[in-house]
Amino acid sequence: MEIIKKRRSVRTFEDKKIENSLREKIENYLTDLEKDYTSKYKFPLIDISLEGKVGTYGVIKGANSYIGGVLLEGGNLVELGYLFEKIIIYLTSLDIGTCWLGGTFKRGEFFEAMDLKDDENLLLLTPIGYIEEKMSLKEKSMRVLAKSDRRKEFDELFFDENLDPLYLDDLKEFNLALEMIRIGPSASNKQPWRIIKINGQFNLYLKRTKDYAKNLDYDIQMIDMGIAQYHFQSTLEEKGIQGAWERVENPRDYEGLEYISTWI
Ligand SMILES: Cc1cc2nc3c(=O)[nH]c(=O)nc-3n(C[C@H](O)[C@H](O)[C@H](O)COP(=O)(O)O)c2cc1C
Repeated sequence: MEIIKKRRSVRTFEDKKIENSLREKIENYLTDLEKDYTSKYKFPLIDISLEGKVGTYGVIKGANSYIGGVLLEGGNLVELGYLFEKIIIYLTSLDIGTCWLGGTFKRGEFFEAMDLKDDENLLLLTPIGYIEEKMSLKEKSMRVLAKSDRRKEFDELFFDENLDPLYLDDLKEFNLALEMIRIGPSASNKQPWRIIKINGQFNLYLKRTKDYAKNLDYDIQMIDMGIAQYHFQSTLEEKGIQGAWERVENPRDYEGLEYISTWI
C-alpha cells in the first residue's frame, strides 16, 4: 500500500545503467511471472539507446532500458493490466522509476528490439531506471495537461446499488482498498473505474470515456480495469483478506457502465 502511494509516472531518468545485481533481480522476477502465465503474456526487458530515433516521441528522457507488456493469444487486456501494474509496483519498491506507456511510443522500433513474432502484441511499455528528481520541461507540461496530480473524489467513483455514495464507516479495510483504486494511474488520467456495492459485494464497472483513444487498435481502458483490480486485491491481501475478481453471470445492468468483475 505504501508503495502504491509512492508510485508516480517518471519521465526523466538519470543517464545511468541499472546496476547488474539489481537488473538480474528484475529479470528473475519477470521470468517467474512469465512462467506462471505461459502463452498469455511476455514481459521482455531490453537495453536500448534511442539516440536519433523517434522512440517515445521525446516523452521519456535518459532511460536506457525498457520492459514491454506483450499480449499473446491466450491472454486478455484486464489481466495484462493487472500484471503490468504488479511489475510496476515491484519496481517502485526497488526505487526504480517507471512510466506506463500505452500510446506514446513507436511500436515498430521496440517490437524489433525485443525480437518479437508477428502474433505477439506489444501493447505496453515502461522505461526503467534511476529517477532524476528534476523533471524535464516536457514532463512538467505533460503532468499539467493530463492533470496527473488530481483524482476524482471518492463519491464520484464508489456507489451503493442505488448509485448513492457509499458510507465510509461500514467499509473498514475495504475503504483503504477503494482508496488505492482512487489514487491509481490510468490512461490520460481518465479514471474510468467505478465500484458499485450490491448485496454486500463489490462490483467493478467501466465508465468509458467517449471517443477516447480511437486511433489505438486495442481497448486501453480495459488495461485501467486491471490496474484497479490489482490495487484493490493487493491492499486486501496485505490486510490478510483473501479473495479474487471473477465475472458473474447476469450482473446488474447500469446505464452507461460496462460490467467487468465482482470481488468474491
Ligand atoms: C494504460 C496506461 C497508458 C498510459 N499511456 C501513457 C502514454 O502513452 N504516455 C504517457 O506519457 N503517459 C501514459 N500514461 C501515464 C498516465 O498519463 C498517468 O498515469 C496519469 O496521468 C497519472 O499520473 P501518475 O502516473 O503520475 O500518477 C499511461 C497510463 C496508463 C495507466
